[in-house]
Amino acid sequence: MLAAYAARISPDDPAAGLEVGEVDDAQPPDGWVTVTVRAASLNHHDVWSLRGVGLGADQLPMVLGTDASGVDDEGNEVVVHAVIGDADRGGGDETLDPKRSLLSEVHPGTLAERVAVPRRNLVAKPAALSFEEAACLPTAWLTAYRMLFTKSGLRPGQTVLVQGAGGGVATALVALGAAAGLRVWATSRDEVKRERAVAQGAAAAFATGDRLPERVDAVMETVGEATWSHSLRSLKPGGRIVVSGATSGMAPSADLSRVFFLQLSVVGSTMGTRSELDGLLQFLATTGLRPTVDATYPLAQARTAVERLAAGDVFGKLVLVP
Ligand SMILES: NC(=O)c1ccc[n+]([C@@H]2O[C@H](COP(=O)([O-])OP(=O)(O)OC[C@H]3O[C@@H](n4cnc5c(N)ncnc54)[C@H](OP(=O)(O)O)[C@@H]3O)[C@@H](O)[C@H]2O)c1
Repeated sequence: MLAAYAARISPDDPAAGLEVGEVDDAQPPDGWVTVTVRAASLNHHDVWSLRGVGLGADQLPMVLGTDASGVDDEGNEVVVHAVIGDADRGGGDETLDPKRSLLSEVHPGTLAERVAVPRRNLVAKPAALSFEEAACLPTAWLTAYRMLFTKSGLRPGQTVLVQGAGGGVATALVALGAAAGLRVWATSRDEVKRERAVAQGAAAAFATGDRLPERVDAVMETVGEATWSHSLRSLKPGGRIVVSGATSGMAPSADLSRVFFLQLSVVGSTMGTRSELDGLLQFLATTGLRPTVDATYPLAQARTAVERLAAGDVFGKLVLVP
């Protein structure tokens, strides 16, 4: 089958490590099922993998991709949950399983004509969503859903700041937050992206690092080092940062005095459970909200899409169609 895979670890030029070509189908173990992929989407995770973060040279070649929608062996239209884990080992939450992995970390990923996953990882695709839209959801949108609705403690009417409005998770945070009745403020380095965030439902958008008109109840962080200090300074006393990524760097100053004097909470969040993915799909089916697709490419052009993602030249999601 045709697949896009990491052939080499390439820290400085991640797209150079990607090849598109024929690979053998993975043989599904007992309890696993093969899904015919109709659409897959890219995430920064794929760029990290090509840079060698979380993926070792001894695991190559590895088919990349965590997100897919498609058709299962019985002809059902499905969305693939990317978290390979055991909910029992995680105390009822597979994202907390110490042995958890994501597709493309241990098992071949979704940037292929077919992908093998545990049957439990299939979630029914609502008919109202296209395959391309559904393929955007299992990583970026699911992460945003859990950050906002499981981890943040926010109530409708409160104010949330979303850093780095152009990212896949950030665009999902803006759209989901606005649809759920939060006052969403966003930051971006780029004026066009700020305008697009407002068009998506943000109440206001600010240049990265700008002083806000007032402090916010919670901040959603995926940018990391470049915005962390601003995130801490933007919170009300007792406020909360939910962090799920650090694209610009992992090691900002912790600013501990601000954390304890203002009694701030810093909460980590990663992916979401199968049941949260189902909740997200129902939320979209009910509200009519849809993911923003920046562009759709044939799978054969995966390298072009990865180049764009690595360059940060994206608003919303990049979709690949086998
Ligand atoms: N924990 C999880 O489960 C999980 C799930 C999904 C993603 N993630 C992580 O979350 C992060 C975000 O991923 P993503 O795919 O949504 O988006 P992304 O492509 O990594 O971009 C995020 C945004 O960060 C901003 N940014 C990047 N570098 C910056 C800099 N030097 N200064 C200021 N802003 C900067 C940009 O916003 P503007 O251009 O608008 O300024 C960019 O759009 C990644 O690190 C990813 O690995 C984690």
